[in-house]
Amino acid sequence: MKLFIDTANLKEIKEAQALGVLDGVTTNPSLMAKEGINGKDNILKHYVDICDMVDGDVSAEVISTSFDEMIKEGEELAALHPQIVVKLPMIGDGIKACKYFSDNGIKTNVTLVFSAGQALLAAKAGATYVSPFLGRLDDIATDGLHLISEMRLIYDNYGFKTQILSASVRHTMHVVNCAKLGSDVMTGPLSSIVGLLKHPLTDSGLAKFLEDAKSFNL
Ligand code: E4P
Repeated sequence: MKLFIDTANLKEIKEAQALGVLDGVTTNPSLMAKEGINGKDNILKHYVDICDMVDGDVSAEVISTSFDEMIKEGEELAALHPQIVVKLPMIGDGIKACKYFSDNGIKTNVTLVFSAGQALLAAKAGATYVSPFLGRLDDIATDGLHLISEMRLIYDNYGFKTQILSASVRHTMHVVNCAKLGSDVMTGPLSSIVGLLKHPLTDSGLAKFLEDAKSFNL
């Protein structure tokens, strides 16, 4: 499973990249706003800065909602860097735009997916990635992980090449469960990635090994 970081914070992206296991980045307008980035030129530059820091795909989300505007905005984003993936909302015009970009060789990520039916439509429109929002489903007392298993079944039934990009991941067990269910990618905060490192038996075991190694007198 590919590990993407879900942030627009360059320091966090750098830290995840330094681990050597990062496969890409997802952003959204809320994450960009959180970093205080504003003005079109600054926003576009920020996407390029992120692409220059990592090896994999970087999702940049359109903020228009009509087909024509999404095409214009998406083409401008895609032209920024070969790693850019155009992120489109799961609405009718977003699906039309997804089909257009897919037919024209531009990578897409259909976002704000909350049902298997939506995921089926996005795959039929040729989406490169589809982002089911696990955490937000869990937030309303629904089983977010169940959606991942439904999507895996449907995509495998018909051989869709669309990758399941499990999003709105909040913690390490979401990551592990996404992997168990066959998600192609997960995107989460830095804490959900570095948290995977931790186990108290690793720490106590290492401390004992290092203590015992003192007898080597090197
Ligand atoms: C996905 O692409 C979104 O950016 C993100 O995962 C949303 O996560 P949240 O529900 O924690 O805001």
